Amino acid sequence: MNELDQLVAEARSEFGQAHAPAELENAKARYLGKAGRLTELLKGLAQLPPEDKKLRGAAINVAKQQVEAALNERRQALAEAELEQQLKAESLDVSLPGRKRGVAGLHPVTRTMERIESIFASMGFEVADGPEIEADWFNFTALNTPADHPARSMHDTFYVEGGHLLRTHTSPMQIRHAVQHVKRYRERLDAGQSMPDIRVIAPGRTYRVDSDATHSPMFHQVEGLWVGENVSFKDLKSVYVSFLREFFETDDMQIRFRPSYFPFTEPSAEIDMMFNSGPLKGRWLEVSGSGQVHPQVVRNMGLDPERYIGFAFGSGIDRLAMLRYGVNDLRLFFDGDLRFLSQFK
Ligand code: PHE
Repeated sequence: MNELDQLVAEARSEFGQAHAPAELENAKARYLGKAGRLTELLKGLAQLPPEDKKLRGAAINVAKQQVEAALNERRQALAEAELEQQLKAESLDVSLPGRKRGVAGLHPVTRTMERIESIFASMGFEVADGPEIEADWFNFTALNTPADHPARSMHDTFYVEGGHLLRTHTSPMQIRHAVQHVKRYRERLDAGQSMPDIRVIAPGRTYRVDSDATHSPMFHQVEGLWVGENVSFKDLKSVYVSFLREFFETDDMQIRFRPSYFPFTEPSAEIDMMFNSGPLKGRWLEVSGSGQVHPQVVRNMGLDPERYIGFAFGSGIDRLAMLRYGVNDLRLFFDGDLRFLSQFK
């Protein structure tokens, strides 16, 4: 092996030992730099006689080209290795199983409300919504409940600052909705014409100072109101019986109207039901208060009680949900325990 071949072989091996770009550049300088071995050889040509210069020069250039080729080859190899390393470090394992998101579901009380809304909507009832922080007038006074009525005692009612209270029932919606309705048809009424019947339900949260397995300080009611010129107790009966049959998807039940008392209805009745089969068979269950709207309440709606008459009811939604789903402790609805709630998905 001549001296130039030897030099090329050495350069190749040094380049091969460089494992980082900086090391490779140092090795390059030793051959091709200003004081590199090949540069020195080229400088040495000047001392040779002209006839040797040509041959020697050509041979050195061949060696130089070989060194440059080896250098480029190594540069490329290092760049590829670096890229590969980078790809490896950044790689995604697409075979790993993903993280699942839980499937959400509606709360059983919400589902019950929606069910009630759609049944009454099919009977031509509007759905209304109103405030939970209520004025004394709407919750009590307008509903013919005088200031000394037992339903007002501190024991029953949460009072808030400024004389307001958390509504103890959805009945204030009777007044609120009727007043809006009457306002809308004021001109017709003043002209002695009639207005469309008030036919509405108002589901929502209600509050009382009460807490045990069947009472929660926050609970849900749905108010129903139908007022017109020719609405009677028999309409209450047919509407409510149809509702219960739809709601429980059975006709196999008995329903009774038991005389009762509410300041805002006269006469008043508790609505009880009894299943003829199933686990609750043979037990009377109280599901709603109801009655014919009291003349004073009709007056407070802005209507003439000699001309307008109707019925109202107020039912416990949580109670209906418990009966439908077979839940025996009301508090389960409000504990937020997913083991219970996820059964309703
Ligand atoms: N508001 C009554 C209650 O909460 C229920 C009711 C509503 C009774 C409408 C009669 C008419 O007990």
